[in-house]
Amino acid sequence: MTGAAAEPATEPAAEPAAEPAAEPADRAGGGPSLVIDLPTAADTRALGRRLASLTRAGDLLILSGDLGAGKTTLVQGLGEGLGVRGRVSSPTFVIARHHPPAGARPGLLHVDAYRLESLSQLDDLDLDAELEDVVTAVEWGSGLAERLAADRLEIRIDRPRGTGAAPADGLAGEDVQFDEARRAELRGAGPRWRGLGDWAPGPA
Ligand SMILES: Nc1ncnc2c1ncn2[C@@H]1O[C@H](COP(=O)(O)OP(=O)(O)OP(=O)(O)O)[C@@H](O)[C@H]1O
Ligand SMILES: [Mg+2]
Repeated sequence: MTGAAAEPATEPAAEPAAEPAAEPADRAGGGPSLVIDLPTAADTRALGRRLASLTRAGDLLILSGDLGAGKTTLVQGLGEGLGVRGRVSSPTFVIARHHPPAGARPGLLHVDAYRLESLSQLDDLDLDAELEDVVTAVEWGSGLAERLAADRLEIRIDRPRGTGAAPADGLAGEDVQFDEARRAELRGAGPRWRGLGDWAPGPA
């Protein structure tokens, strides 16, 4: 789990969606950070695909955000980008699902820690043996999974207020999903992610 700083994407970004984080990088918690607007679920998935180009075996991504924020959606994109086998989904009873590699890129270990109540339950999963060989993404891992590695990419997805487009057909109030907009804050912890602040996610 050691290594150089994250490599920036090789392709130039046509329309960079990233903007510098509002907070200084040395705020509490430290590490470089980026804020990325995600107007639709497709954008969130695309961010996951773009992140796949940055990741390598041994990397740990910790996802946080409210119920339905879009954590699994992002991991689905990550799985697509890595080209792993199996459909990335929200498992009801499975806490950790291993998606084997289909090509040269590493496999994906997708953990949903929502039902984990303690650190010891995380230890019981005995993830350490696998971590070096795969990219690991832990939903609801904030406050639990940090202990797995000093180098972590922490991704928080929020629904910013007032950014959702009003429905064109005036159906507000009915069961219409018009407030799709999300915002992701990425923060790199440890030397592995030192280059994160220079990353500009281009088109997926
Ligand atoms: N901008 C967006 N980004 C991500 N998902 C979005 C967005 N807009 C709408 N959605 C929808 O919101 C839902 C997000 O579900 P998802 O399972 O990814 O969230 P989650 O954070 O993993 O939820 P849980 O807390 O239950 O694990 C999906 O139905 C998705 O289509
Ligand atoms: Mg989920």
